[in-house]
Amino acid sequence: MTGDSVPLPKAALAADSCTMVVFGASGDLTHRKLIPSLYHLAAQKLLPDSFSFLGIARRPMSDDEFRRKALEGIEKSVGKPLQPAVISWLSERLHYLAADFSDPASFGRLNIRGNVLFYLATAPEFFSPIARGLGDAGLLREERGTWRRVIVEKPFGLDLESAKCLNADLRSVMGERQIYRIDHYLGKETVQNILVFRFANGMFEPIWNHRFVDHIQITAAEELGVGSRGGYFDKIGVLRDMVPNHLFQLLSLTTMEPPISLSADGVRDKQVELLRSLAPLDAAAVGRDIVRGQYASGTVEGDPVTGYLDEEAIDKKSRTETFAALKLSIDNWRWAGVPFYLRTGKRLPMRSTEIVVQFRAAPFHMFRDTPVSAMTANQLIIRIQPREGIALEFCAKIPGPSVNIGSVEMNFDYHDYFGQNPSTGYERLLYDAMTGDATLFQRADMVEAAWAAVAPIQDAWAKSPDTIPQYSAGSWGPDAGEDLLRRDGRRWRECRG
Ligand code: BG6
Repeated sequence: MTGDSVPLPKAALAADSCTMVVFGASGDLTHRKLIPSLYHLAAQKLLPDSFSFLGIARRPMSDDEFRRKALEGIEKSVGKPLQPAVISWLSERLHYLAADFSDPASFGRLNIRGNVLFYLATAPEFFSPIARGLGDAGLLREERGTWRRVIVEKPFGLDLESAKCLNADLRSVMGERQIYRIDHYLGKETVQNILVFRFANGMFEPIWNHRFVDHIQITAAEELGVGSRGGYFDKIGVLRDMVPNHLFQLLSLTTMEPPISLSADGVRDKQVELLRSLAPLDAAAVGRDIVRGQYASGTVEGDPVTGYLDEEAIDKKSRTETFAALKLSIDNWRWAGVPFYLRTGKRLPMRSTEIVVQFRAAPFHMFRDTPVSAMTANQLIIRIQPREGIALEFCAKIPGPSVNIGSVEMNFDYHDYFGQNPSTGYERLLYDAMTGDATLFQRADMVEAAWAAVAPIQDAWAKSPDTIPQYSAGSWGPDAGEDLLRRDGRRWRECRG
């Protein structure tokens, strides 16, 4: 398929005139994602001419040094010749301030007028103090038609209690509509496409329910280990790192009811309703339906790799999980009785994120000479990454004089069809925050509903004295992850990466 007949999207307007202020600007996120995203936005003329950027961190650095680092980040992230005019346009708008944001006096030095987008990209323990500092210094006051917005990075709390505290801290100095809780999965085109696929097409929604769907699987696999992020990860674990945020975004968009409009609250009302209808887990359900594991040494893509306990900055006795698989159910009319299997892990065989909707088998087996095993049930696969697309698997007759049946695939590939759109995934989110569209950001009640759903797992794991099951790096996790489906007569679809 090619995109010859696809009309060009309507040109978007440049965002409002504004200053973007990033706290934690010497970090990885700023240089790997945020500044390259600004480069892409500038190249598409989506930033206002008066745009300016102020990076703040403790480390002393001059504007020029910061600009050099920014350029290196852009060069690494944007894999094609850079546009010199865009680089110089952006570069002259980049500024840096060395300041200690745990010191309230630092905020008095921020004399910024007009619209401001603050971005909290620091370690999470600084989110509340920075918000308080901004509030106390009057920097969140919206005067004379201007706006002040704050993007908050993840992790948004470590559990339900801490998320509630953070929400309360933020709301003590600003309104909910000024808060943009980011989940970078929502910046991925295919994730946004889930809504379009479901609600702009008439043919899928009628079968999108327990009468036709056998079960749904969601996999977010990574071949990487914890790398240099051991210090952070060991305190968090993969459940907190991936499930209440990224995986629940995929789950809620795939299973929520149709929103009455695409307004920010229209969509988020339905997502939160869905998260609240996740069947509560008790300790027995956690023992039975939730699996965890930690990677041991092994081989990934042909290379030997060390186990988790030998990674940098990891406690040698750590019981932190690097793999989690969950069987969940949704207590509502649409999904009654349908199991949802979710899994995520580090050091799995490949990087692959996909959603598989498996439909029920045909009600009557008419092809008596065909073994039942050849009659695979229809699957719809929404591939989020690395190769974005949607595929539909169905049975077809294998050419020949007798009726032999095989499984074939109808495949839509995003890049083949629409061409490659250079992006880090943050462009859309930054642009939306600058234009005041919060649809792709999490609301306080969504974050709390997600933490409430995983709280019983956190409680049960914290109490359990068990050692954590190990899996070889490069495998698909501990056997219990396979058993979760096997005992229901199902299996994980093989990811292709
Ligand atoms: C981040 C997690 O939020 O998402 C990381 O903290 C994880 O541990 C990453 O690797 C995965 O994102 P992506 O876009 O590579 O799937």
